[in-house]
Amino acid sequence: MLNLLAISGSLRAASTNSALVAALARNAPAGCRVTVYDGLGRLPIFNPDDEDERTPREATELIDAVTSADGIIVSCPEYAHGVPGGLKNALDWLVSRDAAVAKPAMLAHASPRSLFARAALAEIMRTMSFALYQGGLEIALLGKKPPEVEVILAEPGNVLAMRDALTAFADFIGSH
Ligand SMILES: Cc1cc2nc3c(=O)[nH]c(=O)nc-3n(C[C@H](O)[C@H](O)[C@H](O)COP(=O)(O)O)c2cc1C
Repeated sequence: MLNLLAISGSLRAASTNSALVAALARNAPAGCRVTVYDGLGRLPIFNPDDEDERTPREATELIDAVTSADGIIVSCPEYAHGVPGGLKNALDWLVSRDAAVAKPAMLAHASPRSLFARAALAEIMRTMSFALYQGGLEIALLGKKPPEVEVILAEPGNVLAMRDALTAFADFIGSH
């Protein structure tokens, strides 16, 4: 069984990125389990002085979850052409340790725009030594309200796209 950790970069209650990672968890193919990380909003702001024995519990939980996952999935909005602070903060907690090194990672996209954030996130994650999978998944949910989001995510073509993306990512992990 492959254990994948999915992280949404949005804290909005009606987040399309969070809906996408939740749908990935529901639609994981056999042999693949997707767990959604829900601690982003509770993480203290990263401070290098708070590493080692001073590492906060919330950060340790994130580090342990990434360390024990076979791969991670990130779905993230773009704010002002950048990666939202909350997600960057989470990634910063992972920099000075082994959690990210050679860890397979896949990006998922709930917006057809966000090209600056996609590029920035890929650069950040490669710099952190994640093994970034070149494929990915895009389901256009930008501007949709939760009921419509759920309808779109339940469309057979999108369910298939989610399964196919996870299967391809699992193959990438297996060959890695
Ligand atoms: C403060 C703020 C800044 C934004 N800046 C951009 C931007 O630069 N480019 C873009 O494509 N979308 C931008 N957006 C739109 C969000 O990326 C978009 O609504 C996204 O789908 C929200 O994701 P969520 O539904 O998971 O919260 C911005 C939204 C907010 C709230």
